[in-house]
Amino acid sequence: MLVSLGKMTTATHGFGRSPAGTATLGGRSLAELLAEAGVTTPAYFYDLSGIRARAQRLEAAFGKAPHLTAYAIKANSAGTIVRTLLAQGTGVDAVSGGELELARRLGAPARKIVLSGVAKSDREIDQALGADILAIQAESPPELLRIQARARALGVVARVALRVNPSVTIDSHSHVSTGHDKAKFGILRRDLGHAFATLQRSADLKLVGISTHVGSMLKETDPYLESASVVCEVAHEVLGQGHALEYVDFGGGYGIDYGPGALPEPAEYVQAALGFLAQRELGHLMLVVEPGRSLVGSFGVLVARVVQEKQSGSLPEEERRWLMIDAGMNDLMRPALYQAVHRIEPLSVPPGTKPHRVVGPVCESTDDFGEFGFDAVPEIVVIRDAGAYGFTMASEYNGRALPAEVFVDDGRVVHVSPSPGVENWIARRLQA
Ligand code: LLP
Repeated sequence: MLVSLGKMTTATHGFGRSPAGTATLGGRSLAELLAEAGVTTPAYFYDLSGIRARAQRLEAAFGKAPHLTAYAIKANSAGTIVRTLLAQGTGVDAVSGGELELARRLGAPARKIVLSGVAKSDREIDQALGADILAIQAESPPELLRIQARARALGVVARVALRVNPSVTIDSHSHVSTGHDKAKFGILRRDLGHAFATLQRSADLKLVGISTHVGSMLKETDPYLESASVVCEVAHEVLGQGHALEYVDFGGGYGIDYGPGALPEPAEYVQAALGFLAQRELGHLMLVVEPGRSLVGSFGVLVARVVQEKQSGSLPEEERRWLMIDAGMNDLMRPALYQAVHRIEPLSVPPGTKPHRVVGPVCESTDDFGEFGFDAVPEIVVIRDAGAYGFTMASEYNGRALPAEVFVDDGRVVHVSPSPGVENWIARRLQA
């Protein structure tokens, strides 16, 4: 039975505004949190209560169904955040040996970890085989052969899944669309025969799952179910071949509201997926999902200081105003990489109306966060919805230190991870 949750939307916590108009995170004044944390800007602030509540709602949506939420750790790999999610029962979707090892050291149970990725090295495969994780999700027939060779060399049976490319196009930025038939990801249905032949011949491989991931920033459940339908067809096919399949994995990709409006929340995708599995008589299999952004994205902000305002043009129609801030594309790459819009607002007063282009200090024209309204030049601004793919994609380009990270729980600062500082960067470059 499908139970509709309605269009859920507003995050329970995350960014907000007090009745007086000052910015809040997790219900607490961000200006106070900034002072309490004692960090320099730019700095990421995360609301752990919001993340926890979001994960609990998702876990509850599974009811009694066998399941695994394999958190896509690439979205935000901060230990404090991953531990918070693991405590709610999630596992991890890792895409490198580094992420796999981090998940292990953070205490993720091996059988709650899957390893995805199109070009896993032999070393990473060995690492996964050694840890005896839930499955290595093979993305091509040659990769399956390499997994087989490594399993034989190590004298173990490799638990594998096949990541299917469902040939589904989604309404999202082309850079985050992975399930169409020209993408490098997954195995096309017409190429599955090679993988099946390898599996039939090999005693070193055990097929335990069929997976997919159709892309990121989905706005509706339909394309998700369309790709799920392909996974279910393949699952029936391999069950028919006698494989003792344990799970189907419909991937992640649930979008969040960056401003244009409400989107379905993760629990809605899960409820739709469970109904779908039952209809296809696969309800006995474990349902694995791989959300990243939707668990953390709305619960992080990037706080930056305004360095200066710049105006140019003497005629009104030529007038341009820039707000130059101390956060750049190296701290939050999404606008430069995907033309993503993250709302930017003053810390202490509500947004205004006079248009300013908010730009960073990096020597690139793409270091531009877009146009936002301000009535007066603020001292500090807040870049919203930066909890996913913010810090994890940050770099030290232009000799800029990685930003600080501050973790807030129940309105209090519970942990601060300071910026490594520019001296650290200089020291490493001197050694290079
Ligand atoms: N599973 C696999 C195999 C993936 O490749 C990804 C994301 C996910 C799960 C999680 O997707 P999510 O639920 O977070 O949408 N840097 C981009 C997003 C790239 C996503 C890459 N893969 C951005 O900032 O929008």
